[in-house]
Amino acid sequence: MFYQPGLTPHNLPHDPFKACVVPRPIGWISTISPPSSSTTDNGNPAHNLAPYSQFNNLTFDPPYVMFAANQTTTASRKDTVLNAEATGRFVWNLATYDLRDAVNASAEQVDYGVDEFERAGLEKEYSTVLGGGEGPHGDGERVPMVKESPIKFECVHYTTLRLPGNPPMGSVDVVVGRVVGVHIAEWALMDGKVDVRKTRPIARLGYYEYAVVEDTFEMRIPGDGLALAGLEGNAMANSAAGKGKVEEKAKEQLEQDPLNSGLSGVDGQVDKRQVSTDFGAGTKPGDVERLMFEALK
Ligand SMILES: Cc1cc2nc3c(=O)[nH]c(=O)nc-3n(C[C@H](O)[C@H](O)[C@H](O)COP(=O)(O)O)c2cc1C
Repeated sequence: MFYQPGLTPHNLPHDPFKACVVPRPIGWISTISPPSSSTTDNGNPAHNLAPYSQFNNLTFDPPYVMFAANQTTTASRKDTVLNAEATGRFVWNLATYDLRDAVNASAEQVDYGVDEFERAGLEKEYSTVLGGGEGPHGDGERVPMVKESPIKFECVHYTTLRLPGNPPMGSVDVVVGRVVGVHIAEWALMDGKVDVRKTRPIARLGYYEYAVVEDTFEMRIPGDGLALAGLEGNAMANSAAGKGKVEEKAKEQLEQDPLNSGLSGVDGQVDKRQVSTDFGAGTKPGDVERLMFEALK
């Protein structure tokens, strides 16, 4: 069969599109409302939690993740997006088989300001980098995280890309965040590796179906060891490999303009698009470049 979305019908009883892109990892995203729109009685921020299966990592050094939030059935932008943009922060929590009912419960559309942790019967723990008092992201409020979830990423909002679509739900906010803190429960590790047999992540398939990841097989790219480091997402190996190649270029750039060096890539090319980039709330232009330069020393 063949069809052209929006032009020719697929003639199937259900739309096959999402069932073709599987399995999709679930971005179980927690956020807080900004002080200006807080709707809780005591004036504290409201705690929000929702699953987004249009989610993935984008790169690893430094790590970025994205989630894509369609508009609501009444053509409004979703609470998670509003909060992430307004506060400059969000947390990704791993959705597991054990937590599947809570994942589902947290997807219900409720009034802005309702505590979705409480509704889903979940215990909270709090971000330690975001609002933790120290470092570039230490100011502001801490973000609640799902205590029972074995893996959590603390993220700063980097940008939102808005893609136009058909009303009411078609338009989508693609939210990109830079990961500034990674929590992994000790029990989820086996021989120094995250073990999916222990964490049992769930993923979205098509229709109303899910998969649970419990089994794995291994394959390695033939040839160059550095390509394997990329496959693994090994930031230390990437920095070490880039050291010789970009060192001179990095020093030159940093001497000329320390805050906007535009340093990027293992090939030593200066990506001017990075200059004056906004790295999200609490992150100053040049922070990423400085971190990369530290790794080069
Ligand atoms: C497993 C799962 C995955 C979902 N993935 C998405 C998604 O990728 N994008 C989206 O817009 N909504 C998705 N939803 C629906 C949202 O979770 C739902 O609209 C939620 O109410 C949004 O909450 P918020 O307004 O607090 O952000 C998903 C729901 C479930 C159960």
